[in-house]
Amino acid sequence: MWLVSFLFVLFVVSINGTERKTYEQKLTAVDTEITSFAHTALSEHFRNDKQMRATHIVQIKTAVDIENSRQIYTIHFQVTSSDNDIKYECPVAVYDDPVGHIRALVRAIVCISLEQDSRNQQLIGGDVQRNANKIPYPFVSGTKIPVEHTSVDEVGEYDTYLFDRFQRLHQKFYMDDKEKEKRFQVFKHNLNRIEQFNEQEEGTAIYGITHLSDLNEEEYTQYHLNERLSLSKGIRVQSSESRKDPLQVTPDAFDWRNHSAVTDVKNQGQCGSCWAFSVTGNIEGVWKAKKGDLISLSEQELVDCDKVDEGCNGGYMTDAYGQIISMGGLMTEEDYKYEGKQHNQCLLDKSKIKVNIDSYVNITSDENGMAEWLATNAPISIGLNANMMQFYFRGVAHPRRAFCNPQGLNHGVLLVGYGVEQKSSKSIPFWIIKNSWGAHWGEKGYYRLYRGDGTCGVNLMCSSAIVN
Ligand SMILES: *[C@@H]1O[C@H](CO)[C@@H](O)[C@H](O)[C@H]1NC(C)=O
Ligand SMILES: *[C@@H]1O[C@H](CO)[C@@H](O)[C@H](O)[C@H]1NC(C)=O
Repeated sequence: MWLVSFLFVLFVVSINGTERKTYEQKLTAVDTEITSFAHTALSEHFRNDKQMRATHIVQIKTAVDIENSRQIYTIHFQVTSSDNDIKYECPVAVYDDPVGHIRALVRAIVCISLEQDSRNQQLIGGDVQRNANKIPYPFVSGTKIPVEHTSVDEVGEYDTYLFDRFQRLHQKFYMDDKEKEKRFQVFKHNLNRIEQFNEQEEGTAIYGITHLSDLNEEEYTQYHLNERLSLSKGIRVQSSESRKDPLQVTPDAFDWRNHSAVTDVKNQGQCGSCWAFSVTGNIEGVWKAKKGDLISLSEQELVDCDKVDEGCNGGYMTDAYGQIISMGGLMTEEDYKYEGKQHNQCLLDKSKIKVNIDSYVNITSDENGMAEWLATNAPISIGLNANMMQFYFRGVAHPRRAFCNPQGLNHGVLLVGYGVEQKSSKSIPFWIIKNSWGAHWGEKGYYRLYRGDGTCGVNLMCSSAIVN
């Protein structure tokens, strides 16, 4: 989705004022700004360096690496000097991370001699913008290369740059200038919220600009969450702490994705139907564990036909089980496709029902008990407070309580596993959570949340269907 088209950019570079060389560059929907940066750096360098008089580009390789939702563009120029035939490899690394370390952008170009001393690296251009000291340089493995620092004078200018980029990456088109300006104001406010999120984080999570960055808190809740959950009868008010150390649970890690019990990440779109995805995810897993087949199930059936819940306006997972039993079961995703809106009528075809359930259970709020239940039975349908998910990129989220009230459940998701991450000498236990906002969000569609202290109410609304 981000990388929609190929840009072919032709460079005409003047070297030493007389020679004109052509750089051909193929980028994958990367800013022309980046190419122009590379162009300027290379041409300036080779104009100034006497040994490089007759340089020409012999090869250009490009790579775009989206690693954990972070963008790193690498463009390889191979430069040959015709004087002495020295070949240089010049990777232009653009570590563009307007995300976790928000408003940071590093661009650097380094040329490495291939024939002579391969350690002979020359920095020929680079810049770093705000907060970049936090960022490792990814371009030459194990090597730190100094870059020139140029600060951005106007914060406002950089915000505009980020907003433009956000619109391009996420294909945002606004109705008119007024709407665009309004979204820009929200976006800027969210940049500050993202900085706050990153500052308060006690786990390893990184927050940044996501496709939801032009929504204020109210809109985010309204369009993507399910506020009704917080009014729920489901919340057990007391106690959320585990009775024992979450690191002592058996087995110490488990992941239903490794047992083919989890379907691909789905996308609920702009519809508060998370509850339906949470339930189908659970039933898909229960069915797989019990019957051996992994069948992707229909959320649209629940959105249209569940008479107790309210389709795109939210619902309870625990109500949906009963509704499924009275409907006779669920059709497959393929037979009753998801459309992200509620139909006027229920289009259930009973002859096409593939999966039925017998009952459901509420699962303990003790997180060790939850882990044991999960490893023994199936993925668990849960409710949680999703406030931190609006800007989540990766890592184990462990927000302070003030940022994520455990009682404020507003999103239905699926617990598919758990594990422990090592950070320096610390062991950080986490839950693996399947979300329904597509595979471009978070860690390929997944969220990891701290396990063991009731963070974001992860343990307060846990249930599962039962198939006999
Ligand atoms: C599960 O918990 C909810 C909320 O407390 C309750 O209404 C429901 O009856 C419980 N269901 C079962 C099967 O225990
Ligand atoms: C699941 O599979 C992945 C990839 O093979 C592996 O790295 C991971 O350790 C597995 N997790 C568990 C809990 O078995």
